[in-house]
Amino acid sequence: MTEIEDWNYISLGQIKSTNDEARQYCIEPNQKTIVRAESQTAGRGRRGRKWASGKGNLYFSMAFEFDLKNVGNLVMISSLSLAQVIEEYNPNARPSLKWPNDVLINNCKLSGILIEKGEGNYVIMGIGINVATTPKKKYLLYKATSLHENDINCTAEEFLIAYVKKFNQNMMLLQKAQKLMLRGEWLKRACGIGQQITVCRENKVERGIFVGIDENMALLLNNRGRISKILAGDVFFNNGDVR
Ligand code: BTN
Repeated sequence: MTEIEDWNYISLGQIKSTNDEARQYCIEPNQKTIVRAESQTAGRGRRGRKWASGKGNLYFSMAFEFDLKNVGNLVMISSLSLAQVIEEYNPNARPSLKWPNDVLINNCKLSGILIEKGEGNYVIMGIGINVATTPKKKYLLYKATSLHENDINCTAEEFLIAYVKKFNQNMMLLQKAQKLMLRGEWLKRACGIGQQITVCRENKVERGIFVGIDENMALLLNNRGRISKILAGDVFFNNGDVR
C-alpha cells in the first residue's frame, strides 16, 4: 500500500467496482483509503445506472469517516474540487457544475460522483472522470467529454493526486467554518440557475425554474410560485444544452 497525502492508496487492475472494493476499508476507525481501478466490470452511477468503465479513464473511491447528515457539504466540495483542479490544468476549460455534483465542460459531462453510506460512520465517495475517452453513446444520458478533448493531457494518476490535494484543502476550509465561501465558489460555477428545467425524480417528473440551492445542497424549484426542495434527481435543461 502506498499513500497520496494522508490517504492510504490502493491501485488495482480490473475489478467490479471501486465503491464495493472500498467497503472493506470502512471497519477500523480513523482510516482514509483511496481505491483506484484501471477498469471496472460493474461500475455504477447514480440512480442504479451503469457507469461505463473501460481502460484509460479514472475510477476511484475514497472511504473515510464523515457525518452523513452533512452530505450536502460533501456534494459541494467533491464537485468544486474537481472543477478547481481542471481550472489549474487549463484556465480556458471553464468547467461548470451541474446539480448535484456533475462537472461539465462546454455543456458536456466530464465526471460523475456517487456517494454511498459505508459501514458505521464511513462514507464511500466514488468518482469517475473521463480522462482519455468518452463512453459509447448508448451508455450516455448526457453528452460527454474528456480531459484530453479539453487540452488537459495529464495521466489518470496525476489528476488523482492533484484532486486529493485540492479535496483535502477544501475539507480543511470546511472545518475552518469557510462553508459560505466554498458555497460561493460552487454557485459561481453552477449552471442553469434562473432557467426552466426538468427534474426526473424517483417516481415523478417536475418542471419549473431552477431558483437556487439551499444550505444542504437541495435544489430549489419554482413551479408557478410554489417552491419545492429536491434532494435527488436528474436535471435536464429545457434549452437543450444538455439533453
Ligand atoms: C454518476 O452517475 O454520475 C456517478 C458515477 C460514479 C462512477 C464512479 S467510477 C468509481 C466509482 N465506482 C463505481 O462503481 N462508481 C463510482
